[in-house]
Amino acid sequence: MTSANKPTKVTLTFDNGAPPIDLPILSGTLGNDVIDIRALGKHGVYTYDPGFLSTASCNSNITYIDGEKGLLYYRGYPIEQLAEHCDFLEVSYLLTYGELPNAIEKKQFTNTISTHTMLHDQLTNVFRGFRRDAHPMAVMVGVVGSMSAFYFNDMDVLNLEHREVSAHRLLAKLPTIAAWSYKYNMGQPFIYPQNHLTYAENFMHMMFATPCEKYEPNPVLAKAFEKILILHADHEQNASTSTVRLAGSSGANPFACIASGIASLWGPAHGGANEATLKMLEEIGDVSRIAEYIKRAKDKNDTFRLMGFGHRVYRNMDPRAAIMQKTCYEVLNELGLHDDPMFKLALELEKIALQDEYFVSRKLYPNVDFYSGIVMRAMGIPNSMFTAIFAMARTSGWIAQWSEMISEPEQKIGRPRQMYTGKLRRDFVPTSNR
Ligand code: ACO
Repeated sequence: MTSANKPTKVTLTFDNGAPPIDLPILSGTLGNDVIDIRALGKHGVYTYDPGFLSTASCNSNITYIDGEKGLLYYRGYPIEQLAEHCDFLEVSYLLTYGELPNAIEKKQFTNTISTHTMLHDQLTNVFRGFRRDAHPMAVMVGVVGSMSAFYFNDMDVLNLEHREVSAHRLLAKLPTIAAWSYKYNMGQPFIYPQNHLTYAENFMHMMFATPCEKYEPNPVLAKAFEKILILHADHEQNASTSTVRLAGSSGANPFACIASGIASLWGPAHGGANEATLKMLEEIGDVSRIAEYIKRAKDKNDTFRLMGFGHRVYRNMDPRAAIMQKTCYEVLNELGLHDDPMFKLALELEKIALQDEYFVSRKLYPNVDFYSGIVMRAMGIPNSMFTAIFAMARTSGWIAQWSEMISEPEQKIGRPRQMYTGKLRRDFVPTSNR
């Protein structure tokens, strides 16, 4: 629709003669227009939209996605340019403050984050309360939530300085928490952060160094890791981000809110997909078995889905998947793994699926998770850490979205409505009569 013939309102009419309701149509800077339905409740009707397929829950200046064209912008910058030219902290600054930092701002921000990387020493006791074999995501949910018991002096969400220091703590400490959840699982001593290293190098150092062996970061792998972090940093109002916003809308502290985001991200339909993709590739095992799995993915009586394929918003190639595929080549070349069987299997699976009528007609393309698992596996990162790394990256977007939500003048506690389909009123029956 051109701006000349764009409608500015829509009128809702009822088939029982009730008075019609005019609803304004609002336009953002990019993307679809939205019908402002806020007045509907006063008329005693609500909208019904399970899964929020047609509902904009907020307005936001942070991230823009055009799923049809396969575009992703952070604060107006295309993801391809950011992944090519920026480091993760620069992107985090952009997400939170709205602009890329100049050289002085970048140095100051990097310095601030570096000086918050260490955890309160008592937090090591929280780690030790978990079973050794606990999933890193279970540990992350617990430890990040418990940060509110350590940093409660600066948690007033209406205080801008408190919000900022909490944001810095989260961004700085997430790599330490993620790496330590792995170390704890391995039964190895916790490795302390080294503040002269970059964000990516520092995480890899905390994952792979031991007190007996230093870790020398490989620049190609560190760059690839920065890319993974940048590509996962934000993705507008997805399930985990909406969870963070909803949790935060009650005024809950930022550590509790980010912990809720981590919990939501854990699911296999969301952040757990890269781990699930690799498990699936391992299960397929060989190119000769692809046809069998494609058949299963298409069978409505089989719960199997092609993991790393499909996306709620992208109905074209996920732009992050294309960057990740290229990064995959770079990492495998650097490590001399050109013939990596898993990568070959993934390429072949993608090729076959993209020619298959089922996937083509449903616009199911590989998403970012299809290749990120292969890259991380080649770096020596175990499957169980994939979602934890996603959480570490997405913390940057969650913080930006949470801050934006709190600063919104019209901010209200999130409270969706429902259509009740349960029993009508009935009277209590004593146990002996049931
Ligand atoms: N394999 C097989 N069929 C699929 C797949 C898949 N991966 N994804 C969707 N479909 C089919 C559905 O069965 C459905 O078919 P139908 O119309 O015949 O019933 C159709 O495509 C539409 O699927 P929906 O589930 O309605 O799509 P939705 O947008 O709700 O789901 C989702 C998106 C959850 C990502 C889905 O594609 C999926 O489960 N993918 C696999 C998991 C995955 O990779 N998740 C990562 C998401 S990206 C991220 O979080 C970073």
